[in-house]
Amino acid sequence: MMDLKSQINIEKLPRHIAIIMDGNGRWAKQHGKPRVFGHRNGVIAVREATEAAAELGVEFLTLYAFSTENWNRPKLEVNALMRLLVETLHKEVETLNKNDIRLQAIGDIRNLPERTYQALLQGIERTKNNSRMTLVLALNYSSRWEVVEASRSLARQVLAGEIRPEEISEQMFSDALTTGGIPDPELLIRTSGENRISNFLLWQIAYSELYFTPVFWPDFRKEHLYQAIIDFQQRERRFGKISEQLVQ
Ligand code: IPE
Ligand code: IPE
Ligand code: MG
Repeated sequence: MMDLKSQINIEKLPRHIAIIMDGNGRWAKQHGKPRVFGHRNGVIAVREATEAAAELGVEFLTLYAFSTENWNRPKLEVNALMRLLVETLHKEVETLNKNDIRLQAIGDIRNLPERTYQALLQGIERTKNNSRMTLVLALNYSSRWEVVEASRSLARQVLAGEIRPEEISEQMFSDALTTGGIPDPELLIRTSGENRISNFLLWQIAYSELYFTPVFWPDFRKEHLYQAIIDFQQRERRFGKISEQLVQ
């Protein structure tokens, strides 16, 4: 097999990769199993992606694990997902520590079920001194929710006389989002063949490279991440300029 990893230019790694992990349900169906079976096997892919990103030297990996819209799924599936989260968080913290990976979360996490929330807080607390990579879980996350929240927080600062409306800059707005302090992802990956964003990081992906793969999330392995990065590195990011203006 062709060695994909060696084709990656380590000097030009994306600092931040975000992934919309999709296709667990269809993967399970393909195997004649209930949807939850797909979610369980999705954890293997989470491990693979996390390990691969950390080994390469990626600084931030953000995984979309549960959207605010996902509450609309059958109660049985939602409950199973929340239980799986608690179980996985408890089980994986040790591995995160061993690999020097810090856990963070974005989204309306305060409104997760109490047990999920506590497991998450514990995971964040127990990994807070790690520094090789930050793994960001998007949980109960919705980009529009986040944009509205940021607007409210800036409005409150205006009302309190702390800032003037004219002072609000793109940087201040970025900082007011739940991703404040995290650089925008250079690369956004979505699995399962769906070509949409589903309310994920709308502000932050203004100039991200988008990569869609038909692979269902439970089948996602290190090689798939390498492939996405190689594809990313072959693209020309022009940021509004023309090709000739870019210094190589
Ligand atoms: C992604 O897989 C996992 C979550 C959204 C929690 P899906 O559960 O959306 O799988 P499909 O899209 O139905 O195949
Ligand atoms: C997006 O996947 C959310 C997550 C991956 C957590 P969905 O499967 O919920 O997205 P839609 O509903 O197909 O757009
Ligand atoms: Mg889906």
